[in-house]
This record gives sequence, structure tokens and C-alpha cells, in this order.
Amino acid sequence: MRTVSARNLLDVDDVTRTELSALLDRAAAFKRDGATRSLLAGIPVLNLFFEASTRTATSFTLAEQRVGADIISFAPGTSSLGKGETIADTALTLHGIGVRVIVVRHPESGFARRLADAFEGHVINAGDGAHAHPTQALLDLMTLRDEFGGFDGLRVAIVGDIRHSRVARSNIVGMTMLGIDVTLVGPPTLLPAAMARAGVRVSRDLDAVLPEVDAVMMLRIQHERIDSSLLPALDDYTRNYQLNRSRLRALKAKSVILHPGPYNRGIELTDDALADPRSRYKAQVENGVFVRMAVLDHLVNGAAVPA
Ligand code: CP
Repeated sequence: MRTVSARNLLDVDDVTRTELSALLDRAAAFKRDGATRSLLAGIPVLNLFFEASTRTATSFTLAEQRVGADIISFAPGTSSLGKGETIADTALTLHGIGVRVIVVRHPESGFARRLADAFEGHVINAGDGAHAHPTQALLDLMTLRDEFGGFDGLRVAIVGDIRHSRVARSNIVGMTMLGIDVTLVGPPTLLPAAMARAGVRVSRDLDAVLPEVDAVMMLRIQHERIDSSLLPALDDYTRNYQLNRSRLRALKAKSVILHPGPYNRGIELTDDALADPRSRYKAQVENGVFVRMAVLDHLVNGAAVPA
């Protein structure tokens, strides 16, 4: 087996820049050539979703099937965590039973890390609170690379509720690793100025940013994580930050529109934006299966890393 730098994927920076590129190459190869079911044959993979999911849960299951894993689906509500068993004891038990990979989603930031600290196999973070969602960032990066052939000189705007978005956080990590120029756009309550850092700008002016970028990623307001005092008036929000028909005219003809889903039609974007030929939502969800196959293969076999 080749050496891999990390046992887990808790955020994008668990892999090096080289590994990140190799993961995207591997995902592209799966998309082009398919995969054999022998890659994870006989490896028990547990999907542990404490929070609702459509895209991530479904595409992990399909990815696991395509690489031949033994899939265990588990409803956390019926687990012994509810009887007071600690995460550490649960992790010990699951490993003892034979589970080798856990895919976990949880509403608490840091839960995936706590589980990984106690589990001897591999943990893949499928979204923890507002902290990280690395496989979403990978599928977004794959979609951008499919579109533009690479990342050189690429400019991306991420728009909306950045403060509560694990998708934004993981994308900022991945995009800056790859040299993408990132502009975050949103109102002060949903986008603290402190989120600006090397390679990342903050703007309040979507109309000024839109004509400059190659891709715009629209985010929904994360009502399930938000303190109501931070919620902007909806009219103000849509007037200033909604991707609508008039703003679509400002976007370059060759730009693309991304959205991690689920979307709230009529809030962060209109039906026109979703129907626009520059929308890549379908490509994003399709790519989700391939990047998740690549992550499973990478962690278990080290197969994404060049020899
Ligand atoms: N993008 C995303 O994480 O969607 P789900 O919540 O449906 O998994």
C-alpha cells in the first residue's frame, strides 16, 4: 500500500495540495472509466447521519456500492448513544465489530474530529455543524476543473450566509490551496469582515463582483444554525444578494453558477438562475459520487497518491 498523509478526511486540508489534485484526477478517471467493485471489496463502511441529508447520504451510498464496500446503514436515533454511551465507547465498539470506515454527519462542529480521535479506522466528515464539508468542496472543485480545465487565474465568488456555512469554509480551504482567487459576498451579520485572509476578499457589493468572476456559488441561509438576531430582513437580503434575472445579465457568458443544495427558490436565487444554461447544479451532484469514490479509495488503499 502507498503512503497517505492522513487516516481521515475531516476537512480538505487533511490532504496535501498534491493529494488534492490526485483525488480530483482519480475522480475524473472514475467518471471516465468507471470502477471495479474490488477496490473496497469486503471493507465494512458505516454511514452515520445524525442530521438530514439528501445529496451527501445518497451519493456516499452509491459511491460505496460502486467500489464494492460492505455498506452498513445505521439510524443514530436508535443507537446506544441515546442510552448514554460515549462517542469513544461507540467508536471502540464499532471497530471491534469490524467497521473500517465511518462516514459521519452531525450538527455539532467538531463531532467528526471527536469520533476520529476514538476510532481506529477511517472517518470521513460528511458535514459537521458550521465547520467543514470536505467532499462537497471536492465536488465543487471537480465541477470547476471540468468546466475550465484547471484553476489558473480562476476567480470565484461565494455569496450569502458564509458565517454558518461549512460548504463555504471547506471551499475556502480547497480553493486557496489551489490558488483560486476567492471573494466572499454577504451582509455583515452573515459574513464577518474577519473572514478575509490571504487569497480571500470580502465584499458587500454583489453587483460589483458578479461581472469579475468565473463562477458564483450561491448559498442558502442556514436557518437551522442561525441566531435569529443575525437574520437580515428578507427584502433587504433579496434586493442585495439574490441571483435574479437582472444579475444574470451581469454575469459573464462563460461563467458558471454553483449551488451546493438544498436551495431555497426565491431567496438566494430565482427560478431563472436555476434554469440558466450556466447553472452547474446537475454536474455538481453527479460529480459528488465520483469524488466520494476517490476519497474512499484514497483513504483505504492510498490509490490516489502518485507512487
Ligand atoms: N450539499 C449537501 O450537503 O446536501 P445534503 O444536505 O442534501 O447532503
